Amino acid sequence: MNKGDRAEQLPEHVIENRRYWDEMADDWVVAGESAWQAAEPFWGIWRHPDQDLRLLPEDMSGMSAIELGCGTAYVSAWLARRGAQVVGIDNSEKQLATAARLAAEHGLSLTLYHGNAEAVPYSDESFDFAISEYGAAIWCDPYVWVPEAKRILRPGGELVFLGHSPLSVICTPLSGASREEKLHRSYFDLHQLDWRNDDVDPGGIEFNLPFSGWLDLFRETGFEVLNFYELQAPKGSPDRYGIAGKWAESWPAEQVWKLKRKE
Ligand SMILES: C[S@@+](CC[C@H](N)C(=O)[O-])C[C@H]1O[C@@H](n2cnc3c(N)ncnc32)[C@H](O)[C@@H]1O
Repeated sequence: MNKGDRAEQLPEHVIENRRYWDEMADDWVVAGESAWQAAEPFWGIWRHPDQDLRLLPEDMSGMSAIELGCGTAYVSAWLARRGAQVVGIDNSEKQLATAARLAAEHGLSLTLYHGNAEAVPYSDESFDFAISEYGAAIWCDPYVWVPEAKRILRPGGELVFLGHSPLSVICTPLSGASREEKLHRSYFDLHQLDWRNDDVDPGGIEFNLPFSGWLDLFRETGFEVLNFYELQAPKGSPDRYGIAGKWAESWPAEQVWKLKRKE
C-alpha cells in the first residue's frame, strides 16, 4: 500500500473521517467480502443492478480508472474485472488493509493508495474514468474533490458518483435517527454535515449540496451532465443504514451523477 499525506496538513474533516473510518472498518468487512463476490456490479443501498443504470462501460480494456474513497475496493474490483487498470485511494488504512487482503485472495491487481481524495497524488489527465460510491461522494468537500476529479481526468473522461440525495439529508433528524417525513435542516444551507454530536452513530463529517449547487459546481468546474438518477427503493425493501425501506419507496434516498469532463 502506498502512503501519501502527512496528517498535520489535512483539513479537519479529513482527520475526523480518518479516525471515524479506522474505528469502524471492522464492521464493513463482511459487506466488503460479499460485494467482492458479486458476479455483476450493483449500486446503492438497495442494490440496483448495473444493467438498469449502466454506470460502467461494458469493456474497460486499456482504460485507467480511479476509485475515490474506495473502502474495501469492491467497486475497484468490478472495474478491474472489466479490463481497467485501477487505482483505489482511501483515507483509512484499516479499510485499505481489507481491500488489499481481498485483492490478494481474488487474484486481482489493484494499486491502493492511502491518502485524501481531495488531493490525489497523480498528475493532470492521468485517468479515463473516476468513480465514487459513498466515498469522496459524501465524505469530501465537493468544492475541492470535484475540481480535483476533473484535474486528474482526461478530456472526455467520465466521473460517476453515488451518495445520499439532498432530500434524504434534510429529512434526517439532527440526532442522526431514521429519515422522517419532515424537513430537519435548511435545504439552501446544505454543505457540511457534522455528525460528531449525533446520538445514534456519533462521528464523521459529510457533505452535500442543493441540486442547484451541484449543477453550478459541475458547470463551473467543466463537467457536462450525461445522466442523473434518483434511486427508488423497490417495493417491500428492508430498512437499511437508518433509512426505512418504506421511506425510500416514496422519496429518493440516493442520487447518482454521471458526468463527462469537457475539454
Ligand atoms: C462507505 S465507504 C465507501 C467505499 C465503498 N463503496 C465501500 O462501501 O466499502 C466510505 C469510504 O470513504 C473513505 N473516505 C472518507 N474520506 C475520504 C477522503 N478524504 N479521501 C479518501 N477516502 C475517504 C473512508 O475511509 C471509507 O473507506
